[in-house]
Amino acid sequence: MSWFSKAFSSTIGRKLLVAVTGLFLCSFLVVHLIGNLQLFSADEGVAFNAYTYFMTHNPVIRAMEIVLLLGFVLHIWQSVYLNRRNHNARSVKYVVNHAEQNSSWSSRNMGLLGTIIFIFLLVHLYNFYFKLKFGEIGSDAAGNKNLYGIAVESFSHWWYVALYVISMVALAFHLIHGFRSAFQTLGLNHKKYTPAIRIFGYVFSVVVCAGFAAMPLYFYFLIH
Ligand code: HEM
Repeated sequence: MSWFSKAFSSTIGRKLLVAVTGLFLCSFLVVHLIGNLQLFSADEGVAFNAYTYFMTHNPVIRAMEIVLLLGFVLHIWQSVYLNRRNHNARSVKYVVNHAEQNSSWSSRNMGLLGTIIFIFLLVHLYNFYFKLKFGEIGSDAAGNKNLYGIAVESFSHWWYVALYVISMVALAFHLIHGFRSAFQTLGLNHKKYTPAIRIFGYVFSVVVCAGFAAMPLYFYFLIH
C-alpha cells in the first residue's frame, strides 16, 4: 500500500477528506447561487440561458465539473464509510446515553440529511443538467437553450417547490453542522476564533440555502 492510500484509509485521513471536500462543495454552492441569481433578471430568461450556455461550453468550467464530481463522490463515499463504521463499532447501545443533551439534532442525523440532499441532487440533475446537455428543449430569443422555461414549468408545481424548499432546509442543517465539524477536523480550534467561525458557518448556511429556496418560491408565487 502506498503512503497515499495508507494515509487516506485511516480514520483521520478519511475525516480530512470529508472536511476538505465538504468545504470545496461549499465554494461550489456560492458560485452556483450567484450564477443562478440571473433567474431574477426581468428579461424572460435571456441572461440566465446565456449563463447556462457559458457553463456548459467553457472548457475550464467543463474541467471543473470533473473535479466537482470527484468531490461529491469522495465526500459521500467517505462519510457513508465512517458512519457505518461508527454504527457497527457500537452495535450494543449505551444504557444511559442522553444523546440529545450531548449533541445537536443535526450532528446525529447527518446521514438522514445527506440522503435527502442526495435524492434532491438526483432529481435536480435530471431536470436541469441532463435536459440542458442531452434534452430536446426549445430556444429563447437569443437562440440559447431555454432552460429558464424549464424552471418556469418545474416550479409551477407545488410538490416540486416543496421538494426544493424541504431539501434546502435539510441542506441548511447539514451545512451548519458540517461547517463546524470540518474546522474541528482540520484542527482549526481557537478560543478566540472558534465562536466567530461558528457564527460565520451559521450565517453562510442560512443565507445560501434561503437564496436557493427563494428561486422556486419566486417562480411559484410571482411568475406562475
Ligand atoms: C433553486 C435552486 C437551484 C437552481 C435553479 C439550480 C439550477 C441549475 C442549473 C440551471 C444547472 C445546469 C447549468 C449549470 O451547470 O449551472 C444546475 C446544475 C447543477 N446543480 Fe443546481 N440549481 C439549484 C440548486 C442547487 C443545489 C442546492 C445544489 C447542490 C446541493 C445544486 C447542484 C447542482 C450540480 C452539482 C449541478 C451540475 C454541475 C454544474 O454543471 O454546475 N443545485 N443547477
